[in-house]
Parts: sequence; C-alpha cells; structure tokens
Amino acid sequence: MADHASLAGKRVLLVIAGGIAAYKSLELIRRLRERGVTVRAVLTEAGARFVTPLSVQALTEDTVYRDLWSLTDESEMGHIRLSREADLLVVAPATANLLARMAAGMADDLAATVLLATDKPVLVAPAMNVRMWQHAATQANMALLESRGVLRVGPNDGVMACNEFGPGRMAEPMEIVDAIAGIFAQDAHRPLAGRRAIVTSGPTHEPIDPVRYIANRSSGKQGHAIAAALAKLGAAVTLVSGPTRLPDPAGCSVVHIETAREMLAACEAALPADIAVCAAAVADWRVDGVGDRKLKKDGGGPPALALTENPDILATLSRPGDRRPALVVGFAAETGDVLAYATAKRARKGCDWIVANDVSPGTGTFGGGDNTVHLIRADGVESWPTMAKDAVAARLAEAVAEHFIKDFKAK
Ligand code: CTP
Repeated sequence: MADHASLAGKRVLLVIAGGIAAYKSLELIRRLRERGVTVRAVLTEAGARFVTPLSVQALTEDTVYRDLWSLTDESEMGHIRLSREADLLVVAPATANLLARMAAGMADDLAATVLLATDKPVLVAPAMNVRMWQHAATQANMALLESRGVLRVGPNDGVMACNEFGPGRMAEPMEIVDAIAGIFAQDAHRPLAGRRAIVTSGPTHEPIDPVRYIANRSSGKQGHAIAAALAKLGAAVTLVSGPTRLPDPAGCSVVHIETAREMLAACEAALPADIAVCAAAVADWRVDGVGDRKLKKDGGGPPALALTENPDILATLSRPGDRRPALVVGFAAETGDVLAYATAKRARKGCDWIVANDVSPGTGTFGGGDNTVHLIRADGVESWPTMAKDAVAARLAEAVAEHFIKDFKAK
C-alpha cells in the first residue's frame, strides 16, 4: 500500500455525480476520514438518485452541498469558498456528462460551478459504460481536461453493472485514496507556490506576405519543458509559445502567438511576474511593409525584402523598473565561443542568468531531445553534463526555487 502520511490534516471537496459507482464514494469518504482527511461533499441532482444525502452527511459529518440556488447553501458557504477551503477537488464518480460539462467550462449546477471556480488541483475518477468511455466525445473531453492539468485515476477494466466488459469501472476507493496521497506527497515539494512565471518558447513566424514566412528550427521542447518544470514546483506559469508541434504542457496557461511583436505583447500582458525565462528562438528580423497580397513573379526578378529589427523581448523584460521580474533568465544559442558570447550577452541584455548552449549543426540541439548547457550567473559559470531537455528544465527550475528560498532568507 502506498504511503498515506501526506493525507493527515488535508481537506478534500468530493463531488459525487450520478453513476451506479456512487455507492463506492461512501466507502471513499470513510477511508479518507480514517486517514485524517476532512471531506466535504457536493452531490449532483443525479448523484442524489444513487446515494442519499443523509448517508453522505452522516459519513462526512458535514452539510452536503447540493444546490447552487439554495439560499442556505449559498449564504453559509458560497461556491467560491467551497473550493477555496479545499486542498483538492475529487470527482468520484466522474460521469460522461460531468466530464463534458467540465470540458466545456459550464457552470449549470453547483458541482460544475465549483469545478470551474477552483484554482486547486482536480482529480477525476471516471465511471461509465464502456462505450460511453470509449466514445470519441468522452475521450476528447478527457484529453482536453488532462491537457489543462486535471488528474485522473482509472477507470478500470471489468464487468460493469450493465453486464458489458471493458474500461469504465470506477477505480476502487483505496486506489483513489492512493492517488490522492500521491498528489499531496508531490505537493509537499512546491517551493515556487505563489510565484508567477512567464516562459517564452518555440520559434516565431514572421510573415513575408500572406502565405510565406521566415522561421527557424526551434522545436519549443526546451521552453515547454521549463514551463512544465516551473509549474510542477508550484509556480503559476504563463507559457507564451510560438508555433510548435507540442501539446500544451499540463498546469500552465498557454498563449499561442506567431510573431515576435505578438510574443512581446503577450509577455507584457502576463506581467507582473516574479520569474521570466526567455527560451524562445525569436526571429531577430521581420520583413518591412508586409502587404495583404501574395508576392507574384512579375518577370522583374526576385523581390527585395527589406528587413527591420524585431523588439528584443528578453532585453525589454530585463529593463529596470517596477514591473521587472525579480529573476530574468535568457538563453544564448551560439555556434562557437559559447561562454564568451553568452557572458557578453548576459551583460548586453541586462538579464540575471543566461543558459548558454551550443547549437552548432553537429550537436543536434535544435529539435533534438538533449541539451548541453552552461548556467552563467553574476558569480560564475556552472557547466552541466549533457542531459535530456526535461532534465535540464527540472534542474533549472530547482535552481530558480533555490534562488528564491535564499532571497527570502536574506530578507
Ligand atoms: N531574444 C528575445 N527577443 C529577441 C531575440 C532574442 O527575447 N528578439 C532572447 C531569446 O529568447 C534568448 C536570448 O534573447 O533568451 C538570446 O537569443 P539569441 O538568439 O542567442 O541571441 P540574439 O539576441 O539573437 O543575439 P545574436 O544574434 O547576437 O546571437
């Protein structure tokens, strides 16, 4: 059995939706309470057809919240407070209908409203008929929710109440307890909780005309990994991403842009922040005077493209002032004399740290899975061994967290 030490003293808001598996939620409440968890329950209208409010109330030893419009429910405990006073929201059973309403961002009953209003982690335990689970609509809803950071346990394979066999059975109460304990155990290491971070990632596309653009070979892997690593340590991350093939990392709010100017505007809109990490390979130049018509071969030879310089996002964010993030980290993509160029770049851009990497064609860094970097700070250079980009991101996020812990202690 998993370690349940992380559970004591935690508060779970349990949403019980209408499925035959709702009876297992009563057992879940008991198992959680035995481990020192305070459980408060929201019962949907359909949920109340499968378990009685009285059973839920007796087991939670608390009011059961059911009605968005009830004056007593709302005045005693508004939906915002319901989610604010929990450490985790658990939806068990999570029906196809409730998952769809969550994915669509609906707020048409108390359960959906609480789930929309929360900034706490959400764990769902889906339970439904196998065909409903396998339906493209449910799968798409679940994938969307997971891309937004919703966590999932189950469903399990097995014989279902409707006599069909396959995935759809709700995870057993103790499996859900284990999943909850795992979430709280991870939670213990969230040194960046309460910090806001902006991360830029990917290339930018600079239009030449309505159909052509200037781009570069950046895949966005390193920037996306850094956004995910900072979010894992508890930071509220806005990832400003150029066009990439990557899925949005879990737990980050993602702004998709195309050009350098859009990237700058999105970064500025995300201020104030404590941390900025500029990992994007921003195009240095854009084409001047892009019209709304495609350039045509007119017999006069190739067109002369006049280029103009793009704003430097890293340098702009690094500029001293009230809105400057406390820690600004840039990247230096170099193809030779890496340390010398990168050290000069740190001074020129005004950032605090530079992550320098060699992007010469032989290294495979652009688009590849690994990276060899040097972390350049005011007090010296740390050269890291070649690692997967995820590992570089995790180590950088730890360095950021250490920086803030030291900073906090020094004050
Ligand atoms: N950067 C930026 N905005 C730009 C250009 C670069 O924010 N318009 C950021 C990158 O995200 C990176 C750092 O600046 O963090 C350095 O990028 P790099 O391409 O290595 O440097 P350049 O500024 O392009 O300088 P050079 O062309 O001299 O290498």
